[in-house]
Amino acid sequence: MSELAILGGERTRAAPYPPWPPHDERDIAAVTAVVRSGNWGGFPYPGAQTQRFLDAFLAMQGGEHAVAVMNGTLTLEVALRAADIGWGDEVIVPAYTFQATAAAPMMAGALPVLVDIDPNTFCIDPAAIEAAITERTRAILPVHVAAHMADMDAIMAIAERHNLLVIEDAAHAHGASWRSGGAGTIGHFGSFSMQSSKILTAGEGGVLLCRSQEHAWRAASIIDCGRPHDPEGAHTRQGGNYRMTELQAALLNVALERFPAQARLREERAAYLDEALSEIEGIRVLKRDPRQRRRALFAYTFAIEPAAFGAGNAILARALAAEGIPCYRGYDPMYRYDLFQPRNSRLPVPSAFPEYFDFARMRLPVAERISGAEGMWLEEAIFRGDQAGIDDVIAALRKIQAALLREPALAERIRAL
Ligand SMILES: Cc1ncc(COP(=O)(O)O)c(C=O)c1O
Repeated sequence: MSELAILGGERTRAAPYPPWPPHDERDIAAVTAVVRSGNWGGFPYPGAQTQRFLDAFLAMQGGEHAVAVMNGTLTLEVALRAADIGWGDEVIVPAYTFQATAAAPMMAGALPVLVDIDPNTFCIDPAAIEAAITERTRAILPVHVAAHMADMDAIMAIAERHNLLVIEDAAHAHGASWRSGGAGTIGHFGSFSMQSSKILTAGEGGVLLCRSQEHAWRAASIIDCGRPHDPEGAHTRQGGNYRMTELQAALLNVALERFPAQARLREERAAYLDEALSEIEGIRVLKRDPRQRRRALFAYTFAIEPAAFGAGNAILARALAAEGIPCYRGYDPMYRYDLFQPRNSRLPVPSAFPEYFDFARMRLPVAERISGAEGMWLEEAIFRGDQAGIDDVIAALRKIQAALLREPALAERIRAL
């Protein structure tokens, strides 16, 4: 038997990290009040709880116009449709992200063009954006991945040069900020998710920040079955029922009360981990861009040098999880998802750009390396516990590293499990 927990040894950490989401009597009172009010849903839009939440979210994140939506997938689609982006248009998306970022352009009728990422942040690489622009490109959809923000200075400069819209996927970035403003307020739109894994949650939910009043009116019309939301009734769009409910908003209003203290605690623990990880041979702590003023800890990402661990990220993540440390190896490159194979689509694959649209033939080297060998994600719960919880991460990493280097055959045994 090996000392590694995954092979039958003792776990480094037996106690679970704090559960998510935390809740107390305030949540029960808030939901009870909505139940008693009889106004449970999202109609008429916006309800009192929803408006209160939107005002408070804007006060926290910055920005001027916010629309409350059912989730952070629809927010992306609504942004594209509010900007009249659809059939025949191309939207540039990072290949390393959650499925929704690339699915939203498809739902709006546009084509997602996948590009490579920056190994220092795991976010979209501005140079790759520039190289992918064609006469059909209408928008860039950067994602702020885990605790890092995409290079918004470079992205906004490219957008201005080429007259493109920018929709920030800030599903992970509640409370994060760049020198020029809060995440989601720098581009033309900012999309947030309040789904259960997110750091501000009502189980499901989404907010779309809009820089222009006109976009916000159109977005509100789209999420409210096409009803007008501007004083003149001029900004209507074909829509559906994508409204957030009052029950969701009531939970979010309570979640916002807890958010500042949670964010401070996560940052404190993450800063401690930055230091501790940098002392482990073969770990690359992702450099913090000084232009990013505040980070949001949806997850903590770092990179490993597989040779220094005797294994790649997939084996390390499995071994670390077995030690009691909640973690995973991150996203697959989007073009590997079965969902995005051309055979699933009736859209034509333009023969002039097979490298963009024939996802089966696509190879983006940084996304492949981060996904398949180097990238590691630590879950948020680790950063809401005590400092011993961070020490356990370090101890578990050192234990696995020592065992795999001492006995290289263990990596094979783990792979075969
Ligand atoms: C990067 C990213 N974008 C979009 C979404 C979609 O959000 P939702 O689950 O609220 O639809 C998620 C997560 O779920 C995400 O991680």
